[in-house]
Amino acid sequence: MRFRHLTIVAALAAIFPAATAVAAAAEPPEPAQKPWLDRSLGADERATLALQAMTQKEKLRWVFAYFGHDFAGKKKIAEALPQSAGYIPGTPRLGLPALFETDAGVGVASQSGPNVRERTALPSGLMTASSWDPKVAYAGGAMIGAEARASGFNVMLAGGVNLMRDPRNGRNFEYAGEDPLLAGVMVGQAIKGIESNHVISTLKHFALNDQETGRNELDARIDKAALRMSDLLAMELAFEQSGAGSVMCAYNRVNGPYSCENAYLLNDVLKRDWGFKGFVMSDWGAVHSTVAAANNGLDQQSGSEFDKSPYFAGALMEAVKTGAVPQSRLDDMVHRIVRTMFAKGLVDDPLKEGVAIDFDRNGAVSRATAEAGMVLLKNEGRALPLAAGLRTIAVIGGHADAGVLSGGGSSQVYPRGGMAVKGLKPDTWPGPVVYYPSSPLRAIQAQAPDARVVFDDGSDPARAARVAAQADVALVFANQWVGEANDAASLALPDGQDALVDAVAGANKRTVVVLQNGGPVAMPWLAKVPAVLEAWYPGTSGGEAIANVLFGKVNPSGHLPATFPASEQQLPRPKLDGDPKNPELQFAVDYHEGAAVGYKWFDLKGHKPLFPFGHGLSYTTFAYSGLAGQVKDGRLHVRFKVTNTGSVAGKDVPQVYVAPAGAKWEAPKRLAGWDKVALQPGESKDVEVTVEPRVLGMFDEASRTWRIARGKYKLVLAQDAAGTGASSVTVDVPAAVLDVRGKAQKR
Ligand code: BGC
Repeated sequence: MRFRHLTIVAALAAIFPAATAVAAAAEPPEPAQKPWLDRSLGADERATLALQAMTQKEKLRWVFAYFGHDFAGKKKIAEALPQSAGYIPGTPRLGLPALFETDAGVGVASQSGPNVRERTALPSGLMTASSWDPKVAYAGGAMIGAEARASGFNVMLAGGVNLMRDPRNGRNFEYAGEDPLLAGVMVGQAIKGIESNHVISTLKHFALNDQETGRNELDARIDKAALRMSDLLAMELAFEQSGAGSVMCAYNRVNGPYSCENAYLLNDVLKRDWGFKGFVMSDWGAVHSTVAAANNGLDQQSGSEFDKSPYFAGALMEAVKTGAVPQSRLDDMVHRIVRTMFAKGLVDDPLKEGVAIDFDRNGAVSRATAEAGMVLLKNEGRALPLAAGLRTIAVIGGHADAGVLSGGGSSQVYPRGGMAVKGLKPDTWPGPVVYYPSSPLRAIQAQAPDARVVFDDGSDPARAARVAAQADVALVFANQWVGEANDAASLALPDGQDALVDAVAGANKRTVVVLQNGGPVAMPWLAKVPAVLEAWYPGTSGGEAIANVLFGKVNPSGHLPATFPASEQQLPRPKLDGDPKNPELQFAVDYHEGAAVGYKWFDLKGHKPLFPFGHGLSYTTFAYSGLAGQVKDGRLHVRFKVTNTGSVAGKDVPQVYVAPAGAKWEAPKRLAGWDKVALQPGESKDVEVTVEPRVLGMFDEASRTWRIARGKYKLVLAQDAAGTGASSVTVDVPAAVLDVRGKAQKR
């Protein structure tokens, strides 16, 4: 069973027939002139012209979407692409193409079943975020967007940017971590890359779908200003970076109403305050009403089969007739959808058949992303990189002989060459558990052709320890599979893998742990191993990327986009709210930490994490000098020099944190900016970081402004949020009031 909502309304066909039947009904003739196809006009004007030529029935078709897969015993409608996320009929009479929807942020996904499309998977979104390199995010987005188009899709349900409020959230791997600035920039660039292909991307899940347990019913309660400075700031920045064409409202409630009928979120924040001109689509099964949803800002009912009722079909038609939903609102809904199609090039550059996919090239994009996002967490005694001349290498556990892990649920991309490991559980939603056939073992052997590389599957720790004892180095692969609708029960690695690492580390002092996981995990064995490499879910070419980093062909440069807690006790909610066995349970999650998410919470409480936000080692070393800050033209500019003080080329991520001396923030400091700098040994570069002004302010909900308090602010330049390698200066910042979009208000 995929979702909670299996209550499909039997009368669906009667109220709003399948698309085929609708299309076959008597249509008005094709107009002689189609002025909306004139490319010299703006998207808004073109949409207005098209809307004037549309019948009421044609309008209603745009706001009602079908799932692209058999569901609850019903066959999918013929027009939808097989095993896809969705379909919205076009208005061919007016030259407006249909919308074909595919998930998601790591590539072209398929609903599970016999005929999955095999495509290139990027590493997890969290791994892309770990690169701290917006260009990497853009390149990945551009690649998967191109595959979406070549696969017949013009809408990609990507752009996941829910903040990591809990490391156990089963979808953290689809998102970009805990900091609104980092997450907003990285996801915004990914969306921009996707949409560069004339494919509409979403930004999702709006808002606060920050845990999967009870996601359909939970009420996320939070102070509004805190929300604006955290989850909403990430979304806002991602939107500003990309101009995303669509926003997907979430399953959960926010401060009372469901997200998809939440006037505050959809009408006030998104459409009024941010000036969003695109369309809001629901998540699949997230609609609960007709009139409230339409009037409060939902523009399109997605995957309507998942909802209890076809709210935006016959019921909406009736509601418009009675005036409960104004005609102008229906027109606005359709205008938003059609204008986005014009704005993003879907009409002028329609989908073409027979576009080939260059899988080698795309696999290299995925590999480069993994190489940029791999995080070297620990490296004592230069355990890594592995030296040439090793005689025996033991590779243990994690199916490392066969492939690399991916995360489960609707974002699942299936690999070319089939699933590398068969028969794993769960094999139904949110499974199957998919390993991509990029074998770390083979890639390691390829890098060390003269070494004896032996594999042990890790199922018997004592046996694995004996194998490790006879090797020059032991590489233990420890994995954590999570997925949509499936939070991790705890921070512990599953399946006795902690005991496995313990046993191997006891037998071989040179034990390197390679982690593949959806989010932060605990490491009770950390003190016993000299090196740990965080490989997240590394995507289609992950095995090669891991080997390249282990052997130093690639110098690791990823940094954590999220804090690794030492234990659950350090979290705002040591125990996850809700009951995974009872998805119908009505309950509230009190986000009492407000905007103090991740490292901000840890700072506030004085908790020492296992690894801090921003942490990541390199095979070289970097030093900072000349830190200076200056406010010019209303912007805070931070300048400094970075030098590679080691002996190999590498990339550093200098991070600027800002801490007010007087002003009261939710936490002692915030990330204010960063850069990713490539340096040869001995090379220096001057860096300038311009601080996003909203990062210096507190949001005031009553006046809908950002207020920057006058005073002294400490700028800390460091390699992580714990202040490694830090230098600091203090700057005077003048008072300022910014409008709701962060622009300086005229005085
Ligand atoms: C997910 C969305 C996804 C949709 C369509 C839902 O379960 O929450 O992220 O886009 O399904 O597959």
